[in-house]
Amino acid sequence: MGHMISVAIDGPAGAGKTEAAKAAAKRLRFAFVDTGALYRAVGVAVLRAGKATEDPAEVEACLPDIRLSLAFIEGAQHVYLDGEDITETLYTPQASKASSDVAKVGAVREFLLEPQRELARRQNSIFNGRDIGTVVLPDASLKIFLTAAPEERAARIYKRQRENGSPQPYEEVLADLLRRDKQDSERAAAPLKIAPGAVVLDTTRMDLEESIQAVVALIKEKL
Ligand code: DC
Repeated sequence: MGHMISVAIDGPAGAGKTEAAKAAAKRLRFAFVDTGALYRAVGVAVLRAGKATEDPAEVEACLPDIRLSLAFIEGAQHVYLDGEDITETLYTPQASKASSDVAKVGAVREFLLEPQRELARRQNSIFNGRDIGTVVLPDASLKIFLTAAPEERAARIYKRQRENGSPQPYEEVLADLLRRDKQDSERAAAPLKIAPGAVVLDTTRMDLEESIQAVVALIKEKL
């Protein structure tokens, strides 16, 4: 992958990947690419087209009409669908489910593969996702598998939803999370798993600052 440094951070939802990677990227002046947002954007596009996200054939048929682009504004990633900034719509429970549905579809993963690699060629970056170390950037300079216990991850998502004013009951958050974990790790196409050579970082007993410092320390060891 040329001379750019790429760090792959994979792991399940709610492990704190986004917060830790975003802050670590800022401290190290790397770009931060949240690839989950791309799957979420495809999910939202399929929902907007009025198609069933559970139906792989319908999802695949939508792809030729989907025009996605990314921009980084003050370090924050924005996702555009046909030029419209849809970033704010990507984190509803419906979009979460839709993203996990479309992420199972091989054609969707194929559709997003080259754009992700192109981003990695352009700048030093930290990539967040499920298959970065295994599929997208197998030659990444560093691979981290960031995880935490399911109850802790559900508690973090619950807290985030409360702050955003649209809470689901905790039990429902946990049930959704376990369903999504299962779907993400058991799917045939690029399932969530620990990449060969990845460092496993368990953040169950870490607060955000400790997670950030652990990620920064691992990257600095590699620089
Ligand atoms: O990280 P996230 O919750 O925003 O991801 C949304 C969905 O997309 C999630 O169900 C897993 C999927 N995903 C994926 O399959 N591969 C990636 N590289 C990133 C996300």
